[in-house]
Amino acid sequence: MQAQIIQSIVTALDRQLTEQEVQQLVEKPKNVALGDLAFPCFTLAKKLKKSPNVIAIELQKKLQGDTIQESQVVGGYVNIFFNQSMMTQQVLQTIMAEQHQYGAKSKTQERVVIDFSSPNIAKPFSMGHLRSTVIGNALANIAEKNGLTAVRINHLGDWGTQFGKLIVAYQRWGNQQAIEASPIEELLKIYVRFHEEAEQDDVLNEEARVAFKALEDGDEEALALWQWFREVSLEEFQAIYQLLGIPFDSFAGEAFYNDKMASVVQELEDKHLLVESDGAYVVELEQMPPCLIKKTDGATLYATRDLAAAFYRKQQYQPQKIFYVVGNEQTLHFQQLFQVIHKMGYDWAQHLQHIPFGMILKDGKKMSTRKGKVVLLADVLREAIATAKRNIEEKNPMLDNPDEVAKQVGVGAVIFNDLKHDRLHDIDFSLEQMMNFEGETAPYIQYTYARISSILRKVAPVSTPATFEVLGSHAWPIILWLEQFPKTVGYAYEQADPSQIAKYALQLARYFNKYYAQQKIVAEDALFSTRIALCQCVAIVLAEALALLGIAAPQEM
Ligand code: ARG
Repeated sequence: MQAQIIQSIVTALDRQLTEQEVQQLVEKPKNVALGDLAFPCFTLAKKLKKSPNVIAIELQKKLQGDTIQESQVVGGYVNIFFNQSMMTQQVLQTIMAEQHQYGAKSKTQERVVIDFSSPNIAKPFSMGHLRSTVIGNALANIAEKNGLTAVRINHLGDWGTQFGKLIVAYQRWGNQQAIEASPIEELLKIYVRFHEEAEQDDVLNEEARVAFKALEDGDEEALALWQWFREVSLEEFQAIYQLLGIPFDSFAGEAFYNDKMASVVQELEDKHLLVESDGAYVVELEQMPPCLIKKTDGATLYATRDLAAAFYRKQQYQPQKIFYVVGNEQTLHFQQLFQVIHKMGYDWAQHLQHIPFGMILKDGKKMSTRKGKVVLLADVLREAIATAKRNIEEKNPMLDNPDEVAKQVGVGAVIFNDLKHDRLHDIDFSLEQMMNFEGETAPYIQYTYARISSILRKVAPVSTPATFEVLGSHAWPIILWLEQFPKTVGYAYEQADPSQIAKYALQLARYFNKYYAQQKIVAEDALFSTRIALCQCVAIVLAEALALLGIAAPQEM
C-alpha cells in the first residue's frame, strides 16, 4: 500500500521525480497526528526554483488515489493520511491468507553458502562461536525466507599445528578414560599444560611440529588420535547445536581440504603468484601483508585450507554468494583470501563476503580465552534455562511442560540478546538483563505471544475472506507495522543484518502491548472479529520473526 501511495505522488508530480527518489524522500512523521507519511518539497523547490510551500500546495491538489484518506500542507510538507479502512482490510487479509508464508519471496534457483559457527576441535565452544552460530543461523533462515537456498556449512577447526601439540600432550599426560568421560575439558587441560611446559622446555614445540608433520603425511597413529579427538569433540558440539535447534548441511572442516590444496597451490604457481620468502611460499598482495600459503617445512596453513574450501564450494554448490560469519579479528585473513582469489583471475571473488561481528564483553571487558578463564557457552545456556525455570514456576506453576518451555525461553533469551544488536557492536553479557520479562528481550516477546495465544484459545478463530473494520488509534500503528514485515525481511537479507528482524519483533510486541493495555479484546461489539483477526495476525508475524532468529514461541509460559 505504501508503494501505491508513492506511485500516486510520482504521478501527481508529473514524474519529475522517480519512484526511488520519492521513496528516499518520504518521512514518517514523529507525531502520528501529522499523518502516516510526509513528503518534503525542499529538494524539488531547489530544482524548480519555487517555494516549497507552493510546490506542496500544487502537489496536494493533484494528489489522489483510493489509498489516501486525506492530505494536508504544513510548512513545505505534504502530510498524507492513509485510507485506514482499506489498509486494515488489505493487511489482515494478506496475513490471514498467507499465514507463516507472509513476507516470503517465491523460491528462486539462487544459493548462498553460509560458513558459520566453525568451532575448533578439542577446544571449548566459546561465546565468540556462539555469536557466529546464531548470526549465521539467522542469516540462513532469512535467506530462505527471501527465496534462496541456504547451504549451512560448519568449517570445523579440525586441522593445524595445534593437533601436533595435542598429540604430544596426549602421549605424555593423556588419560583415555578421563577424555572419554569429559572430552573437551580433558583435552583442554592437557593442551594448557602443553603450553605451560613448553615455555620452560622448547623441545616440546619441536616435537609438536614433527607430530603435526607426521599427521599431514598420513602417519597412522597420529591420524587415529586425531580422528578420536575429532569425534569426541564433535559429539559435545552436536549436543549444543541440538539445544540451540541449529542444523548444518555439512561439517566439512579444515581437514576435509587436505587433499584439495595441492591443485590450488599448483595453480598459484602456474599463474606465477607464488613467491618464496625466507623459505616459505607467499602470495604478495596490494595494500596488505602477503598471504602465507606454505611454510618452510611444507606444512599448509589456515589460509591455504580456506583457499581450497572456496574453490570447492564454488564448484560444488554454484552459489551466488558465500558468507563467512567470523569475528572482527579475522578481517585481514578474509581480505587476503579474497584478494588472492581475485588475483588468480576469478570475478566471483567479489561474491565472497566476510560477515564480521564484535566481541561479547563481560562487565565491559573482553572474555579471555587464555589462562582457563573461558566463559563456556554450555554453562551460560544451562544457567539461562535454570533462571527461566524459576521465573516460570513463579509466574505459571500450573504449566504442563515447564522444562520444555524453560529451555525455549532460556535459549531464546541468549540468542535474542545477541541478535538485537548491530552485528558490529561489542555486546555486553548480562544474564539478568537478557531474561528480563519487561526488557528488550526474547522473554518479553515470547510472553506477548503467549498472552495472545491465550486470548485466541478462548474464542473461535476468524478465517478469510472476512471484512475488517477500522480499529482506532492504538491498533493503527500495529497495522502499519505489520505491513512493514515483508520489506524488513528483504532488508535484513540485503544488509546481512538479523538485528532488523529482532528490532522489528520487539516493536511489534510493544505496539501490541500498548493496544492491549487500553483495549479489551474479548468484548461483544461490532469490532470483535476484527480484533481477533488482528490478534491472529500479530501472533503469526511474531512467531515467524522469532523463528527467523532461531527462537521458539511457546503457546504458554
Ligand atoms: N575455526 C575458526 C576459529 O575458531 C573459524 C573458522 C571460520 N571459517 C573459515 N572458513 N575460516 O577461529
